[in-house]
Amino acid sequence: MPSGTDVDRAAKILQQGGLVAFPTETVYGLGADASRDDAAARIFAVKRRPRAHPLIVHLAPGASLDGWAVDVPEPAQRLVAQAWPGPLTIIVKRGPRVASATTGGSDTVGIRVPAHPMAQALLAAFGGGVAAPSANRFGAVSPTKAEHVIADLGDDVDYVLDGGACDVGVESTIVDFSRGRPVLLRPGGMAREAIEAIVGPLGIADAAAPAAPGTLASHYAPAADVYAVEPHEVVETVRRVRELRAQQPTEMPAPVEANKGTIAVLAPASAFAAWGDLGAIAYRLPDDAAGMARGLYAALRDLDAAGVDVIVAALPPAAGLGEAVGDRLRRAAGPRDKS
Ligand code: TXA
Ligand code: MG
Repeated sequence: MPSGTDVDRAAKILQQGGLVAFPTETVYGLGADASRDDAAARIFAVKRRPRAHPLIVHLAPGASLDGWAVDVPEPAQRLVAQAWPGPLTIIVKRGPRVASATTGGSDTVGIRVPAHPMAQALLAAFGGGVAAPSANRFGAVSPTKAEHVIADLGDDVDYVLDGGACDVGVESTIVDFSRGRPVLLRPGGMAREAIEAIVGPLGIADAAAPAAPGTLASHYAPAADVYAVEPHEVVETVRRVRELRAQQPTEMPAPVEANKGTIAVLAPASAFAAWGDLGAIAYRLPDDAAGMARGLYAALRDLDAAGVDVIVAALPPAAGLGEAVGDRLRRAAGPRDKS
């Protein structure tokens, strides 16, 4: 499938109802014209995503919310005035320009203004709103490089805009303003502390909150089994995993089983010294939460590509971007539907 840096070509494809993958500061998005039902429907087909899970509408910096949203509450306006462009999505009442397919029929819409210059150039050239989920198949790890998109979606995308590696590395923070007090639906690239400093304490998503795939127990999952544990539990977890694997009956002929039991430990670089020889592959992430977020998804993909069976991941402290990193690791470790 064609890829490159031709923003005008990408904008034309969007105008014709096609699909363009593009970089944002968080992850790569799979974009289509947010005002067209037929274009948005293609996204759901390519992602193999259930239609009831709404898409985020991306707007250019400075674009008016008129037509895209109605009744935007004052705290939401205050927040976006400071946070956009950036890794924050607000959920508000849907305006008439948003196609029904884009929101899966919901009367609310997620909106964000991305910070990546290539995303902004695309939005400016296109001239409308671009509906875009992360450019991966449903439930898989989000792409943070153009190569990831090409590996996942192949010829199902009309064009991939290549803007290099994403700077933030985890998806946007989602705050729901559509039901009164603001509620955090998904921790992400904008730290909770920074948001709460502007709008006050965020509520917690409850049973009445809208279903969002990013909030399903198993999501953002690599092929390997993931154990997300506190740093002090890493050594013991590696030992238990090895024991468990040794006990499992062999169902496959020997050559296929050769790799079974390959364990990797994913943790901040400085943590390894305390653990001695783990007898596992060491995948070192930067020590700061922002660096962990930036490298997380590429790490999960690298480990899958290396044929690792089990990833034991050390959870970071929940402060700053650590909340999003911990959230994604827990979901990657969540119960899988193995069918
Ligand atoms: O950083 C990001 O947010 C990336 C980039 C491409 O912008 N996009 C992204 O989209 O992560 P996606 O579709 O993979 O995740 C968006 C999440 C989903 O869990 C979706 O259900 C939720 O946002 N969402 C979107 N609109 C919503 C709405 N109206 N109500 C509730 N949840 C909504
Ligand atoms: Mg996604």
